[in-house]
Amino acid sequence: MARPPRPDTAVIFDPDTYVYGVPYDAFDRLRAREPVTWVEELPVGPWPPGPGYWAVWRHVDVRWVLRNPGLFSSHAGATQIRDPATPDDLAYVRQSMLNMDPPEHSRLRGLLSRSFTPREVAALERTIEQRARTIVDAMAETGESDFAKVAADLPLLTLADVLGMPEDDRHLLFDWASRVIGYQDAEYASIDVTDRQAPTPMAMAALAVRPSPGPDGRMPDPRTRSGIPDLYAYAHELASYKRRHPGADVMSTLLTQVDDDGKRVSVAEFENLFWLFAVAGNETLRNGVPGGMVALLDHPWEYDRLAADRSLLPRAVDEMLRWWTPVMNFRRTAVRDCEIAGKPIRAGEKVVVYFASANRDERVFPDPDRFDAGRSPNDHLAFGYGPHFCLGAQLARSQMRALFAAVLDRFKVVERSGEVVRLRSNFQNGIKHLPIRWQLRDPPAVPAG
Ligand code: HEM
Repeated sequence: MARPPRPDTAVIFDPDTYVYGVPYDAFDRLRAREPVTWVEELPVGPWPPGPGYWAVWRHVDVRWVLRNPGLFSSHAGATQIRDPATPDDLAYVRQSMLNMDPPEHSRLRGLLSRSFTPREVAALERTIEQRARTIVDAMAETGESDFAKVAADLPLLTLADVLGMPEDDRHLLFDWASRVIGYQDAEYASIDVTDRQAPTPMAMAALAVRPSPGPDGRMPDPRTRSGIPDLYAYAHELASYKRRHPGADVMSTLLTQVDDDGKRVSVAEFENLFWLFAVAGNETLRNGVPGGMVALLDHPWEYDRLAADRSLLPRAVDEMLRWWTPVMNFRRTAVRDCEIAGKPIRAGEKVVVYFASANRDERVFPDPDRFDAGRSPNDHLAFGYGPHFCLGAQLARSQMRALFAAVLDRFKVVERSGEVVRLRSNFQNGIKHLPIRWQLRDPPAVPAG
């Protein structure tokens, strides 16, 4: 007997759904029906059910929630749908800038923005372009490749520069981000790609306290401090090294700065910023870049259009981020009774904004399911909105531009050569494997003589 169809809300909440794709048809129906819907938090594997939440589907309402931190707090219950398991766990995640409200948030954000100026980003851009070319040139030597795996090296290398880490330690970043973002996915939850040959002293400190999977094969919850002691050990060592030997990297600048009250960034603040960058600056691009490639594979005429007119590349990158939307949602908590689009919301209830739905809102984007490399205007929300707007947006855009410019330069045609393997996650629109093959462009003619 066929199973009765599940409600759309159960489909969008279930991490298993995303192994097969983002349920855009369910988002379309929910967004058309009403602006805000109550979603039950059903049990997922070993995790118990939660109290449920209000999901916000439409572009206008997502923006309104995000620009009102006094009403919808990032701090009260933090920013993930699932509540932290214990009061201690909540207290721990609240130390991250991501989970603060103004004015505490503004202090750290101000310090960080100062060390993350357009000049710093421009200095990184030159290296990014070289690295993107090296990655694509190495790929071109092979007949076919797992683009998700190969392209993942660019955000890792860039992040190692930003954080002032030795390049060889970047595989630790890969492991940490996978464990945090992939905790719902069996392959990623206990991944370990770190090479133990000749580790740096900081890597040694981290590896010495790296937890092992328990008898059930699971790692401790990586969204608690005790669940990811290796990341903290590394950050601690890095901070004390940088204080003694500041470099030209963003984190050295941050550590040596003082705020308006003459206060320096504390070690605890540095460690939590390290966590935020290690995850936010890595996993998002690791999914956004292959997501952009899927857009081009599914729309080969847009690939040709871009190859013929490179001036479209910045627009194409934003369209990739709208069409793929690497981070599908973020959570806030209502701090007092209020309304969203006329729907009453009670103090203490969770409110989850769905970027994956808002970025396909037909009220804002004509023909929203179409990938249009030249789309303009493109007021997408892939980087969020309001006081927590992504701090790495320019850096993310420049990495995507550099990588796709290199791909367009080397490959005349790209096509799939196997099955896409997607991440099991209701938060990140993740790709684990994307096998592709290509036809190389003819090398430019060498002038005679
Ligand atoms: C395509 C890539 C990326 C996407 C889609 C993305 C998405 C986002 C989103 C949606 C937020 C808002 C969170 C909220 O409202 O609660 C955010 C915040 C943040 N992102 Fe990104 N991000 C990307 C790349 C990066 C990179 C490369 C970095 C750093 C190198 C970075 C660092 C941050 C930080 C530090 C925050 C917190 C800002 C704050 O709390 O004020 N992100 N990102």
